[in-house]
Amino acid sequence: MSDLRSSLNGKIALVTGGGSGIGLGFVRMAIEAGARVVVADLRLSEALAATIGASNEQAKFVHTDVRKRGDLETAIGFSLQIFGDVPDIYVANAGVFEPSAKANESPKQWSNFWLDTEGDSYATAEINFTHPLKLTRLATRALLGAKKPGVVVLVSSTVGLSWSYPAALYCATKHALIGFTRSMAPAESLNGVKVVCLCPGIVDTPLWQTREGLSEQFSVSDKVSITPEDVAAAMVDLIVNEKYKGGTVLKVDRSGVKVIEFSGKTRDLKDEDLVKVKDRSFAPVQDLLAAEIGRPWGGVSDRL
Ligand SMILES: NC(=O)c1ccc[n+]([C@@H]2O[C@H](COP(=O)([O-])OP(=O)(O)OC[C@H]3O[C@@H](n4cnc5c(N)ncnc54)[C@H](O)[C@@H]3O)[C@@H](O)[C@H]2O)c1
Repeated sequence: MSDLRSSLNGKIALVTGGGSGIGLGFVRMAIEAGARVVVADLRLSEALAATIGASNEQAKFVHTDVRKRGDLETAIGFSLQIFGDVPDIYVANAGVFEPSAKANESPKQWSNFWLDTEGDSYATAEINFTHPLKLTRLATRALLGAKKPGVVVLVSSTVGLSWSYPAALYCATKHALIGFTRSMAPAESLNGVKVVCLCPGIVDTPLWQTREGLSEQFSVSDKVSITPEDVAAAMVDLIVNEKYKGGTVLKVDRSGVKVIEFSGKTRDLKDEDLVKVKDRSFAPVQDLLAAEIGRPWGGVSDRL
């Protein structure tokens, strides 16, 4: 195990969608590195059950629908209850690729831009975009309350850096995560919360079995895909390696691992810049967050 990976030892990680694919790859790597893990997913998959078993003291499953804020709060409270502290690492990984309705389900339950089956909101947007934002806010509150630094990883995609006509909704949610991550760059120096974003290319996971013909439609094959383990290794590095500062957007695909550079200086704010902005636009946020420092985790009742 690399020195960097071993720095996960003793940490607590909360992983949404950790029962399959990329999330499960990270869960396995984190357990191996000595971390304790809360796996927050819709169901205890067979693959996860085989990984953590019934009596694994290092990893626990908590039923979570990431669309429900209360479930995310419960998952953090669960960590406190079973591991004695709120998580140090929060991985917003749960995601869907515009699923269409299954035969026995109401079409309105599922979320596909071109099939256009939804009412007032897109489930794909709630799962892929709104949940990572909610988790980041809850993580900030939990970490400030516990007076410890932490890391939030948002799982985007290389399509968040490009475009997709057939999956425009999915693509838009992944773009949005990148804008959010860049906006949160100052949180590391100001609040001790490093918010970073990982953009995997095509990964061989069950996501591609969501719809019949999906992998053919998007030309998914061994020639272009990487493994969940490749992504998990990049994720661990992104979390523990101090060279990756808050606001970093990291791409991992067949061509390797690369930091995405953007114009503008969000990630390169110098101390003097921070003092200037802190005095103006940041001040209301910092005042609000100051009130959360040292406040014990209280979930829903904790909201101002
Ligand atoms: N597979 C790829 O090619 C690829 C590429 C780039 C990015 N990603 C992203 O990586 C992340 C993980 O995808 P994956 O490929 O491992 O998919 P996957 O389908 O194997 O795993 C997704 C997990 O999310 C869970 N999930 C879905 N909706 C949920 C909800 N409402 N509440 C709680 N959990 C929920 C599922 O139960 C599943 O365990 C997603 O955000 C996906 O968009 C995947």
